[in-house]
Amino acid sequence: MEYGPAPESTKEAQAWLAQRGRSFGLFIDNAWSAPGELFASANPADGSKLADLTQATDADVERAVAAARRAQPGWQALGGHGRARVMYALARLLQKHARLFAVLETLDNGKTIRETRDVDLPLAARHFYYHAGWAQLQAEDFAGYRAVGVVGQIVPWNFPLLMLAWKIAPAMAAGNTIVFKPAEFTSLTAMLFADICVQAGVPAGVVNIVTGDGRVGEAIVKHPGIDKIAFTGSTEVGRAIRTATAGSGKKLSLELGGKSPFIVFEDADLDAAVEGLVDSIWFNQGQVCCAGSRLLVQESVEARFLDKLRARMDKLTLGSPLDKSIDIGALVDPVQRQRIAGLVESARAEGCTVYQPACELPADGSWFPPTLITGASTSAAVAQAEIFGPVLVAMSFRTPPEAVQLANNTVYGLASCVWTENISLALDVAPQIKAGVVWINTANQFDAACGFGGYRESGFGREGGREGMLEYLTALSEDARPAAPLVEAKAKAKAGAEVKEKAAPHDSPFGIDRTAKLYIGGKQARPDGAYSRAIHGAGGEFIAEVGEGNRKDIRNAVEAAHKAGGWTKATAHNRAQVLYYIAENLAARGEEFAARIAAMTGARNPEREVQAAIERLFYYAAWADKYDGLAHQPPMHGITVALNEPVGVIGIVCPNEAPLLGFISLVAPAIALGNRVVVVPSEAHPLSATDLYQVFDTSDLPGGVVNIVTGSADELARTLATHADIDAVWRHDGSAEGCAEVERLSAGTLKRTWVGGAKGRDWYSTAQSGGRAVLAHASQVKNIWIPYGV
Ligand code: NAI
Repeated sequence: MEYGPAPESTKEAQAWLAQRGRSFGLFIDNAWSAPGELFASANPADGSKLADLTQATDADVERAVAAARRAQPGWQALGGHGRARVMYALARLLQKHARLFAVLETLDNGKTIRETRDVDLPLAARHFYYHAGWAQLQAEDFAGYRAVGVVGQIVPWNFPLLMLAWKIAPAMAAGNTIVFKPAEFTSLTAMLFADICVQAGVPAGVVNIVTGDGRVGEAIVKHPGIDKIAFTGSTEVGRAIRTATAGSGKKLSLELGGKSPFIVFEDADLDAAVEGLVDSIWFNQGQVCCAGSRLLVQESVEARFLDKLRARMDKLTLGSPLDKSIDIGALVDPVQRQRIAGLVESARAEGCTVYQPACELPADGSWFPPTLITGASTSAAVAQAEIFGPVLVAMSFRTPPEAVQLANNTVYGLASCVWTENISLALDVAPQIKAGVVWINTANQFDAACGFGGYRESGFGREGGREGMLEYLTALSEDARPAAPLVEAKAKAKAGAEVKEKAAPHDSPFGIDRTAKLYIGGKQARPDGAYSRAIHGAGGEFIAEVGEGNRKDIRNAVEAAHKAGGWTKATAHNRAQVLYYIAENLAARGEEFAARIAAMTGARNPEREVQAAIERLFYYAAWADKYDGLAHQPPMHGITVALNEPVGVIGIVCPNEAPLLGFISLVAPAIALGNRVVVVPSEAHPLSATDLYQVFDTSDLPGGVVNIVTGSADELARTLATHADIDAVWRHDGSAEGCAEVERLSAGTLKRTWVGGAKGRDWYSTAQSGGRAVLAHASQVKNIWIPYGV
């Protein structure tokens, strides 16, 4: 049976555009500016012009930021309940005008009305309801946090209104005010949203919307009056934003590209998996950051599965997105069409097989048929690049480990699907996939309660859930951080660097001369360059030498850390036991450590630091098996399990003040959660760290979990930040320039960073140097969706 056309009327949407004169200014301080320099927004399905929009200038961005700044204290002071009421009104208005929004979105973006009506709008409204709830509960559930301030938010064109909701709802709930920029191709639903902000009673200046291209985005990113940037879009622009914000102190969250695997095991319900794949790669014409664009199918069922898939592709309907029976609409712009066509042609030229169902493409507009590519090598451009179109690349595997290896063979890590009827296999594979979301026997499910965001070059930060709220909050303890003390000894240490290893013997608090080596893979290792550096005491006297680590030593340390993967798989109970054991052995040698601290820093009461370090080890041992995830119950028959997973290998540059306590305060939370670390101890006072080698050796700490490379903090931090196999870098030695450099250099592989900047930290205070905020830096949330029933 054929479906007849079922076109949705555009009457209301066209009337709204006409009423607005098909020309829009900017929405700042709850008022519309007169249209400025204009650019057109077109309907991708037929190329017709819909309206003109204003290209905002730097002065416009300035006005928007000023309005947001003025409004922020009042919005915060309105309190959680006041904000919740306004947000509830927004949610209601989105529902009341849902059809107008859906039609306008379809006209502007080219995606089908089925999707805008059934997915984008309900989810956008749900985000405002859910976050109205967080506004109401903020004081209770986020005590100890405040709003970040003014946030700049930049979104792409693939889910224009939904991305707006993902950005604006949590920001508003937390008490921030907003400068928002929609994508230049798709700004119209944001214009309509501005209208409902006024109707909902959003106070002036809380939501400001500026339109235009990337130049407007750049102006927002670099504006000093903005405290946080939240960006969704291409990895390339994400990298540019990471570089531009380095050293600015701005908080940052990036939701970037993906090349998500869709794994089908031989025991999967193959028909259901085909339907899942349709939702995964042909939803929104494949213009979805988490699209399942890489099919990995077990060899034994490959032929059968691909036959079923091609048969299903033949039935997909392509045509007017306003037709309610259409599956595949138009691409957002001819530019995208050309890009996709180029990638498919290059695959064909390389000998791949390209399957496209025989479907007639409309004469006008921007269209591309559903496409299946087979025979591509794992390194082919189509297998690695984010195509962002309706193009699926299929590959096969033989065993579950091979499936995991292929799934992770990408620089991205946004999402993944696992299809199998064997729950043990699914739950064995899910944690091994390096991605922020795993859908088991389902695909492209979203809910405001379940965090969404990436691993690796898919970005960092989460949207939705409790973790998403934290992206828009600052811990009050951060405000109380003191200026970092100047450490004179650092200068002395520099002056004494490059002393040959055979320097004259000297007195050490440990009695015998022991030039400390590096600690790599659980063994003491000579520095590659065979140089040592002199360490001086508080009075400037020479007290010892340590190895001068270099790039090669860091490389060896990273390699050792990667080999120590067993630590990540160890139980949290076991990791806690090792931390307690380290504490016990440190306590046994407390006097020696106190003497060492006194010799290095001149501290009057060094025992206090040793005791605090022991307590901190207990503290993180306690947390190791208590920093659990959550089980969400989204509107699906099933559960979503949010796991706190370790980040991987973390490079840590330690503070100079409190050289033992600072070291322990950073290393303990990292390893408690299963990370492995490469640590650069205090440059000025590294001996408390090198004295720990023997403590570690006698505490059952597996080799490679903690690797220590002494030397120049600046030089070693640079190496850590540019190393391709390090997942995160923390720097807390009070060097503002050094911290900025770490942020800038980390853009290469989009590592996560946690830097202290020019501010110090009271290492004795658990509020400043402990708690969930620190554990959040040591972990990343993976949401695993597990539907049940048959
Ligand atoms: P884009 O990353 O250039 O644009 C996203 C947003 O960032 C837009 O609002 C744009 O105006 C703004 N922008 C552009 N340059 C900027 C800059 N230097 N500073 C601040 N903001 C800036 O993405 P585009 O050009 O729309 O799409 C290109 C490719 O990016 C796509 O083909 C796709 O592969 C990928 N993409 C990925 C998305 C995702 O969600 N992962 C979303 C959109 C695009």
